[in-house]
Amino acid sequence: MKYISLGELQVSRIGLGAMSMSGFYNVGEGSEAESIRTIHRALDLGVTHLDTAEIYGPYTNEELVGQALKGRRDQVVLATKFGLVSHADEGSPGLDSSPANIRVAVEGSLKRLGTDHIDLYYQHRVDPKIPIEDTIGAVAELVAEGKVRYVGLSEAAPATIRRAHAVHPITALQTEYSLWTRDPEDELLPLLRELGIGFVPYSPLGHGFLTGQIRSTADLADDDWRKTNPRFVGENLQRNLRIVDEVQATAAEVGATPAQIALAWLLAQGNDIAPIPGTKRVARVEENTAADAVELSAAQLERLGNLTPAAGERHEEHVMAAIDR
Ligand SMILES: NC(=O)c1ccc[n+]([C@@H]2O[C@H](COP(=O)([O-])OP(=O)(O)OC[C@H]3O[C@@H](n4cnc5c(N)ncnc54)[C@H](OP(=O)(O)O)[C@@H]3O)[C@@H](O)[C@H]2O)c1
Repeated sequence: MKYISLGELQVSRIGLGAMSMSGFYNVGEGSEAESIRTIHRALDLGVTHLDTAEIYGPYTNEELVGQALKGRRDQVVLATKFGLVSHADEGSPGLDSSPANIRVAVEGSLKRLGTDHIDLYYQHRVDPKIPIEDTIGAVAELVAEGKVRYVGLSEAAPATIRRAHAVHPITALQTEYSLWTRDPEDELLPLLRELGIGFVPYSPLGHGFLTGQIRSTADLADDDWRKTNPRFVGENLQRNLRIVDEVQATAAEVGATPAQIALAWLLAQGNDIAPIPGTKRVARVEENTAADAVELSAAQLERLGNLTPAAGERHEEHVMAAIDR
């Protein structure tokens, strides 16, 4: 496994997202025991970057990660997020990045994760009610107290990133980026490079679509949230299959799997990029982690890079509405 730096923080180039292991985002069958084995296998393979959030579950995903890391805490860069659970409102889901909420959130996350410090603490979504300066000021206090090592933002717009970075150095931005979501390339990536901020692409496998295993909504269970995601329905899905076909053709050429091609393409976009593919299965974490060794030729990178990005918004309308733009 190769390692890169997000700002000053060293992480494995390929990390592991724990979200699909629990909670409202759960997709497909899984078990807690297999999830824990998946985390352990990732660590054994040299993965040092684990991503969770207070809202995943809520809470149960941090508990699971904390359980898996017992005795192995020092082997990982542990990232979690605040701001989508409102503790003043009895822990109900909702944007809340007020300093008071952050104070409550961090104590809960530390406890569930079984640690005295969070390596990378992200604001999960920008809260339009709270100036970003107040939010980052509150997290900077946690850094001064040793509860947090580095500060991150998720789905923040360029202007917000600049304002936040002026208060306290931002180490990483987490936003969706993959072969079917290319939006960060226009404004975000150049800004991050200007400011020396690392980039953590989430959903690097397009929620599983880029692996080629979903070719129709019939492949999805009735309660699978992707059934109503704009990119997985109707004509959009048919158009988006062209992306997958190209990924599969490249995979056959290279002797790799489509998931590995999707990850290798991302890795080739810069040594400041550390994707966090999500899985709750040992076999898949082995497959995804092995993408670190997959090299694409210049011609393959160009062909993949020239693909038309996905048809359809990346989230449903109400989710997009909560995104800082
Ligand atoms: N900051 C944010 O707002 C935000 C939003 C979304 C996600 N995230 C983070 O990013 C991580 C990854 O995102 P994601 O889970 O949305 O999407 P993803 O990594 O693009 O895809 C995950 C999906 O693909 C499946 N999968 C994984 N590896 C596979 C393989 N090799 N072959 C076939 N299927 C495979 C997984 O199923 P199984 O789990 O059943 O294997 C899961 O359904 C999350 O865990 C979370 O930590 C952050």
